[in-house]
Amino acid sequence: MNVNKRIGILTSGGDCSGLNSAIRAAFIRSQALGYELVGIKRGLRGLADPNPDFLILDNVLCNESLLTSSGSVIYSNTDWVSSTIGQGKTTEDIKNSIYDGYQNLGLTGLIFIGGDGSLSLMKEFLIENLDINIVAIPKTIDNDVAITDFSIGFHTAVEVVSNSIENIRSTAKSHERAMVVEVMGRDAGFIAMYAGIASGVDAILIPEFKYSIESLKSKVKSCYDSGQNHCLIVAAEAVENDEFKHDEEFVDGVVKYSQLQYRGIAQYIAQKLKAAGFNSRAVVLGHTQRGGKTAIDDRILASAFGAEAVNLIDSRNSGKLLCYIKGKIEAINITELQNSFSKKISKSDICVNIAKCFGVYIGEV
Ligand code: F6P
Repeated sequence: MNVNKRIGILTSGGDCSGLNSAIRAAFIRSQALGYELVGIKRGLRGLADPNPDFLILDNVLCNESLLTSSGSVIYSNTDWVSSTIGQGKTTEDIKNSIYDGYQNLGLTGLIFIGGDGSLSLMKEFLIENLDINIVAIPKTIDNDVAITDFSIGFHTAVEVVSNSIENIRSTAKSHERAMVVEVMGRDAGFIAMYAGIASGVDAILIPEFKYSIESLKSKVKSCYDSGQNHCLIVAAEAVENDEFKHDEEFVDGVVKYSQLQYRGIAQYIAQKLKAAGFNSRAVVLGHTQRGGKTAIDDRILASAFGAEAVNLIDSRNSGKLLCYIKGKIEAINITELQNSFSKKISKSDICVNIAKCFGVYIGEV
């Protein structure tokens, strides 16, 4: 195969369902346009490695089962840049090693699949100073990448959480409990809000909206007073209040890629409810939200993104972030995004309106 017809693909940051669907789509489209597709293992770390570990994608690996399987066949990496800088390397060193990797692999283009953190790195290390033909695809269970309505992985996470809440509801009913379910999402409440609505919970706490323990207790009481023998509350992991903060006390001082590891909110809320006399328990869904059979919406979104990324590489339409906006795939200039790669739930989000309409407690909104 002529090395001038070779595209690289990598997955960067926390994994999610749908990465493999995007890889498969990029492979199918690459084949159609006469490119070899090379999967660079372990994200940017792999690309910058003088002896990169890579996979030449083929029909056997990219069969239909890849469409629905979670994880990343080319693995991912979260903290290579910060740990490399921690080892004394400069940003210039990192840029050079990435560029060398791109050249050594003989790439004519690179498909970069990442979330908001990885996209900032991409802008800093791959776009602004290097002549790399690159197209980005947004992925994250958190759905907090700016501009795009949805990122790959979000729909599957919402499905996994909704199914888990259904399971939790049956035991909540048997034991007449108030169950508090903690979900991921970092600083955005999309998973909590969408899964909470989809599974008919009574209260949804997200970092975007202030809440009070007193109002939450009143909500729980009103559930029991109305004859419902249980209560379901979803709390996004980053939720806090004046008493409960995500500081060193709750994270053991662990700081990863400049982000705290959030934990403890469900336990805190459950304790408050217990103290008020409710039979309450906390459940933390954790990394289960990153797995599961890829949801149909994610398969379609990832397939559309993967194929379009190859089209843009082929036409040398570089430096773009693919976004899904009002039912269409659009290519946005990464440099136009300035520093704002992330978004949060707004008061006008469809789920906020539904929650209000159904009388779900979502804080003091
Ligand atoms: O960004 C995706 C995500 O799953 C967040 O929802 C969560 O806070 C974080 O990653 C967990 O990361 P790690 O697995 O590195 O602890």
